[in-house]
Formats: sequence, C-alpha cells, structure tokens
Amino acid sequence: MKDIDQAAMSPDDWDEMNFPRPDVQGFDHVVEAAISRRGFMSGVVAFGSGAAVMGTSMLKGTTAMASQSDRFAFEQLPIQTDGTVHVPEGYEWKVLVRWGDPLFSDAPAFDPATGIPTEGSDRVFGENTDGMELFNVGGTELLVVNSEYVNTKTNLPENDGGKPASAGDVLRLQNFQGVSVMEITEGDNGWEVVVDSPYNRRIHHNTAMTIDGPAAGHDLLKTEADPTGTASLGTFNNCGSGRTPWGTYLTCEENFNGYFGATEEATLDEATAAGFQRYGVSTEVDPGRYNYHGFDARFDISKNPNEPHRAGYIVEIDPANPDSTPVKHTALGRFKHENAAYALAPDGRVIVYMGDDERGEFMYKWLSNDVYVPGGDTSTLLSEGQLFVAKFNDDMSGEWMALTPAATGMSEAEIAIFSRMAASKVGATTMDRPEWIAVNPTAVEGYCCLTNNKNRGVKPNAGGDDTSPNGPNPRAANNFGQIVRWRPSGDNHASNTFEWDLYVMAGNPKTETGPYAGSSNINEGNMFNSPDGMMFDTTGIMWIQTDGNDDNEGEFEGMGNNQMLAGDPVTGEIRRFLTGPNGSEVTGLTWSSDKRTMFVGIQHPSAPFPDGEGALPRSSIVAVKRTDNAKVG
Ligand code: FEO
Ligand code: CA
Ligand code: CA
Ligand code: CA
Repeated sequence: MKDIDQAAMSPDDWDEMNFPRPDVQGFDHVVEAAISRRGFMSGVVAFGSGAAVMGTSMLKGTTAMASQSDRFAFEQLPIQTDGTVHVPEGYEWKVLVRWGDPLFSDAPAFDPATGIPTEGSDRVFGENTDGMELFNVGGTELLVVNSEYVNTKTNLPENDGGKPASAGDVLRLQNFQGVSVMEITEGDNGWEVVVDSPYNRRIHHNTAMTIDGPAAGHDLLKTEADPTGTASLGTFNNCGSGRTPWGTYLTCEENFNGYFGATEEATLDEATAAGFQRYGVSTEVDPGRYNYHGFDARFDISKNPNEPHRAGYIVEIDPANPDSTPVKHTALGRFKHENAAYALAPDGRVIVYMGDDERGEFMYKWLSNDVYVPGGDTSTLLSEGQLFVAKFNDDMSGEWMALTPAATGMSEAEIAIFSRMAASKVGATTMDRPEWIAVNPTAVEGYCCLTNNKNRGVKPNAGGDDTSPNGPNPRAANNFGQIVRWRPSGDNHASNTFEWDLYVMAGNPKTETGPYAGSSNINEGNMFNSPDGMMFDTTGIMWIQTDGNDDNEGEFEGMGNNQMLAGDPVTGEIRRFLTGPNGSEVTGLTWSSDKRTMFVGIQHPSAPFPDGEGALPRSSIVAVKRTDNAKVG
C-alpha cells in the first residue's frame, strides 16, 4: 500500500484507492454509452414538463415557478471559500459541541496541540460528527450523534504518519468513534451539553452488542470469543442515522471493511474470500489505515476471518435507557449502510429505506411482517420481514425485488450477510453511490442522494455488474451527483412498484454544457456538487447537505465550500442556506423539539475551525437559530 496522506482522505476515497475495482470496459464503449445517454437525457427533461402526472415540475420551468412559490424564509447565501460557517441574514449560529469536549466531568482536558490522551478518551464527544437525531424523553432533550471515523494523524500527533504504535493508540482511536448520547439544554448562553447527565453515554468500537435476525448464530458469525455468533463488540464507521417511531436510534455501519487487516497470509473458505472481495476487506499483510489488527487480534482476518461478517449492519440503540444493549439487525442486510429512513404503510407495517454507498452498488427497502402499534411490542419489527432491492426501468417505472431464497439461491442467513451478492443475482440497478434517503412527511414519496460516481460507464462494480449509464444514473463519469425520487404505487410505501424521476441533477451551468450543466433548477447562483445528507423538516422542506469537491476550480468553479441547501419538493426550487469551513463536509441535521433550533454537523474541517489560528481543526455541531427565535423547521 502506498504511503499517502490518509488522514486527509475520506474513508470512501481511501477505500477506492486501496481496493480499485477491475477495469474491463474499453474507452470506446464509454464514449458510445455517454453519447446514447445524452439522447436519453432529453427524454428526462420532457418528462419534467409532463410531470403533472407526479404533481410537480422539477426539471423544466422551475425558474418561473420559483417566484410564485418561495416557501423559504431566507435569501440565498452566496458561496463562501473561507474557514468558518456562514448562514443568511436573520440567522445566527453557535458551537454546541466539538470533538473532545467532555460528556463527563472526569474527562481529560483537551490539549490544543495534541487533543485527548488515551486515558479518558471514552468520556468525550467523538470525532467526525455525522448522522444525528434528537429524542425528547420525558421533557429532556437527548441528542444522539454518530462519530464516523478518525483522522489518525490528528489523534496520534506524536506517531509517524499517525500510525498506531501500541494497543493504547488503537484504543484511543476506537474510543473516538461510534455513537455519543448526550443531554442538551438551552440556557442564557444558548444550547449546551449537560455534563454528567445520567443519559450521557459513549458507544464505541468495544461496546457489547446483540446480533439478531436471520444471520444470528450462523457459522459465518461465530468467533473464538463468541462461539454463539450472537454477541459482538462495537459498531463501526457510523455514518448516517435513522430513527424509529418507537423512539430508538438507528446507527448505520458504512465503511466497516477498513478496520480489518491481516498480519500473515490468511486461509479463507470460498464464501468468505468472495465476500472480502465484494466488500473490500483487505487480505494483504499491511498496516492499512488504522492497523487495529497489529494490536487487537479481533481485527486480524488471518486469526479471526469471521469478525468482518459481524459488521456492516443497521444497529438499534435505545437512548432513553443508558444500560440497554445495542442490537445489530442482520435482517436489514449487510452492506455499506449510509442511513435508514423509515415510513409507515397505511396498515402499520414498517418500511426502512437504505442506501449502499459504493460506486455501482444498490438501494434497498425493508418491510416488516408485523405492524407498529404505539405502545405495543416492537421487538420483532426490525427482525422479521422482507428485504428488497430497487430496480429502476428507463420508462420511469420501478420495482422492489424481494431478496428471497427462491429468487437468489441463497439461504436467509446468506442473504443477510452477503446482501450485495443477493442483489446482483436478481439484477438490481447499479447506482451512483446511494447516500442519504429521506421520506417526505407531507407526500408519499422518497428521495435518495446519488452523490457522484466517477466509475459510471467506466468500470463495473466489484461484483462485475454492468454500470453503463441507466435511467436514474444517466451520466458517465458523474462528478456532480443527482437526487432520485420515487412515488410508491397506491400511495403506499409497502407497494412493490413505483414511479421515479430525478428531482435534481447537480452540475455546472457556467463551465459545462448538456447534462453536465445540471437540470434547470440548477443555476449559477445555487450550484453545488455531491449531495449526501438529506432530511425533511416538518413543513416538507427538504434540506440537502454536500460532501464534494470544494476546490472551487475547473468543473467545480463557482460552487465554493461544502454547504447545506433547502429544496422545495413541489416547485423544485433549491436555495443555499449554510456554508461550512474549508475542507469540511456538512453532514447531520436535526431539530430541537420546539423547532426553533437546527443542529448541523461540520465534519473534518481542514481550517482550524472553530477555535481559530493555531488550534487543531475540530469536527463540531453548530446550533442555528433565527435571531427573532421563530421556528426553523
Ligand atoms: Fe459516510 Fe457515504 O457517507
Ligand atoms: Ca464523509
Ligand atoms: Ca455521507
Ligand atoms: Ca459522501
């Protein structure tokens, strides 16, 4: 493995660099496919004009519609290219919590040069804030937040290249990731963490978990430390979030593969070897990004080849009960889970939409067998049901294909553990990296951010599935991203069929032409790239967060730093609301119970945000309010 500045890379880019997918398509084929898709794109625009079928117009005429609609309470914020957060006039922001801030009074003090030592590293707010949800428990505001990964150079500043040199170093990194549960309260100084609240909790890479669902107890999940295959330690690379109607938090394990490695050549059975190849688990004898395996045998696949099978799931956490054991729900599939967006069918069955964030992987849906009854038993709702994968047709129809033993030739446990292979077998649609999915609370429809895919039309996914441009992923070498929307048949999220369209294609109308200039709701004023986070507020405004190229050069000229925009699902209008500091991604959004504050996550700034010159950059959550204290969602 090359010696690279891995601290500065996102897990996605690191993963791509170290586990490059095979390149089988020739350049001629790429060009041919791109040209034919340009022909198809005009069909998409035509659909926009006929979108009355779907009650909207998003690709045509949006400029005209914007002036009539304007459901936004703010003027568009211009792009920014500096080291801090900006919001529109009439709004203000303040830091709620930074990586390393104490959740408990016995936490070590944060050193501006070296951060937090190993001892007490599980007593502070974790690094690289990502998905978050707020729960009100008996009048108490509980914020539950993912810490996706660690910048090893930041956390191990004394070590060469930020590489762990001891078991203690590994423990420090493990403690800064996972999930933080914390009570917050609003006083004269604004919102603050309630240090030592009995609800405060750190869940990290060594926290005890229960495994349930069809894969629980399967041979592929058994290890020397857990011969039952039903109990594991830790939750990994917690990216986006979700919640259930019964008040639990869903944390989503994304690039889990990067934590495992080998200290010697491993002997693997066929299924395990194939799984490692598809999911990008390294079998090379190499320290890798984290080198956990050098000091903690659990992560060494030459000693514990089944351990990676115990990660890559949706994990349910009860924030109201600090002693509860998180549950890994294998029924919802194993892949690089971005987030988990729930909906309820009219009959009360629970739907969870999920994306697999990897180039050319898939979009999934879970449907429970039982119905949700407020106050009733919810213990089986994420354990017993059916997993589906999406197929999008070019005629704007689509279907959810059930991943059953009959359809895949795999057992229920194998479908749960190797969901990607099951989805390939039924011919699911390869997507441009499905990031967050959001369900509109004011209409029966879902949206998924397809963040970008430089490999579209260039090479297949790791399972060899064709990734030529297709309906919702129409652009080869797609560096801008798009948002796909679907409306389930019969206004029922439990339906197996849907209609789809594109809510927006990001692009650059200044430097590009054709489909790469973006759809017509993109203009030089609101352009952005790489939509990633996405959440609806209670009024039906969709908030879009970006994790893209912030060089502000070339095809990204005029887009500035990563940002958060508001989208009107009815008119298609999109307006920039917030910008993050240099190098950061804006990710994670939730609201206080009174809807007068929005909490926004700022992940991996390169600027010394928020403490200023000379200080370490710190991922932070900011509280955004209107200066007149009116509602913001
Ligand atoms: Fe962690 Fe796909 O973002
Ligand atoms: Ca990220
Ligand atoms: Ca993301
Ligand atoms: Ca991303």
